[in-house]
Amino acid sequence: MTMDKRIEKVKAFTGITDAEAEAVYSMSGLPRDLADRMIENVVGAIQIPVGIATNFIVNGKEILVPMAIEEPSVVAAASNAARMTRVMGGFHATASTPVMIGQIQVLGVPDPHAAAQRVLAESERLLDICNGTNPTLVKVGGGAKEVRTRVINTIRGQMLIVEIDVDCRDAMGANTVNTMAETLAPYIEELTKGRVRLRIISNLAVKRLARAWATFDKESLGGDEVVEGILDAYAFAEADQYRCTTHNKGIMNGITAVALATGNDTRAIESGAHSYAARNGGYESLTKYAKDKDGNLVGSIELPIAAGILGGATSTHPAAKAAIKIMGVKTAQELASVMASVGLAQNLAALRALSVEGINRGHMKLHSRNLAVLAGATPDMLDEVVKRLGTGHAVTFDTVSEVVKQIKAEKESSKHD
Ligand code: MEV
Repeated sequence: MTMDKRIEKVKAFTGITDAEAEAVYSMSGLPRDLADRMIENVVGAIQIPVGIATNFIVNGKEILVPMAIEEPSVVAAASNAARMTRVMGGFHATASTPVMIGQIQVLGVPDPHAAAQRVLAESERLLDICNGTNPTLVKVGGGAKEVRTRVINTIRGQMLIVEIDVDCRDAMGANTVNTMAETLAPYIEELTKGRVRLRIISNLAVKRLARAWATFDKESLGGDEVVEGILDAYAFAEADQYRCTTHNKGIMNGITAVALATGNDTRAIESGAHSYAARNGGYESLTKYAKDKDGNLVGSIELPIAAGILGGATSTHPAAKAAIKIMGVKTAQELASVMASVGLAQNLAALRALSVEGINRGHMKLHSRNLAVLAGATPDMLDEVVKRLGTGHAVTFDTVSEVVKQIKAEKESSKHD
């Protein structure tokens, strides 16, 4: 389809308004004054393409998934993997209560274990103080829910760490949690007779986990041998950290792209994911695979996803708001469920491509078009470049330049004929 046709389809499917469609489609969804207010020293904005991943059924619902990413093949790969689970009902996904952890570091506490007990004994009052900072959140069922303490040994001696669990509902929660931690600090100092240093959210959001699982139809995947190939690839990742890092990177290709399209904090989600992968001391795959009794492939994923649909750029950036509307998600938990499904799809697609044909063949069609533009090809020449490169050539800048030169020369000589 052309871009015009695609956006028409998205409008028809999701019911987004003309203005919302325009925010994505115009490629100028971010007004200058808004950009200028978002960060400091603004001189412009960088545009990343937004593609729509198709074929996703999540918890029985058809979902179009906007993905913002500069890398070719990612959107196609996610769509392709989602297709392979459609006959089996698509993705099933859940997200836990959106609880984030805030940390308060207390130094120089005379008797840290006794101080910890005093803090715990005052939990109710401390939670009230936290919740006083955000009555709206409390009204919708969120807010600070629990206080915990830990005494840790560091290279600079013992420290008392006070942690608060905050149900952030539909927000990512960093501002909420940081405000609560900062407000609480003087009370903690008073109770512990120590000195508070850091008061900040933890991005290891172990209490905000998203899970998705799906059965990928053996026939759609390409048969028994493909299933075996994917299981071999998975076993490699589980056994080897060098491979596992790339394996998890592929998962984050999908999750981060949705995070970016929806105006979420991609770095928070990335750091949480990799830290979660390392939670047992090694570095593990965020996905798991096995065969069912019919030889189909069953995949699952579990990771923290601190993504919101309220607050920050999600609420201000017109294109991000439109992306949320396109997905049709109504809560942060629904968004996290879709993101986990996309991560699983992305990983499955990568493992399948890698174990069957190598990643480059799929990648190269788009890559060769990009290289052709760099080598001076005009848009009308691109299909011909791809055709001539066929599957036999290694796609490098040199080979593509050579083909572009040939086509240009032929065009020139046909002009003179
Ligand atoms: C490329 O962006 C991602 C992959 O390398 C992931 C993987 O190797 O599993 C293809």
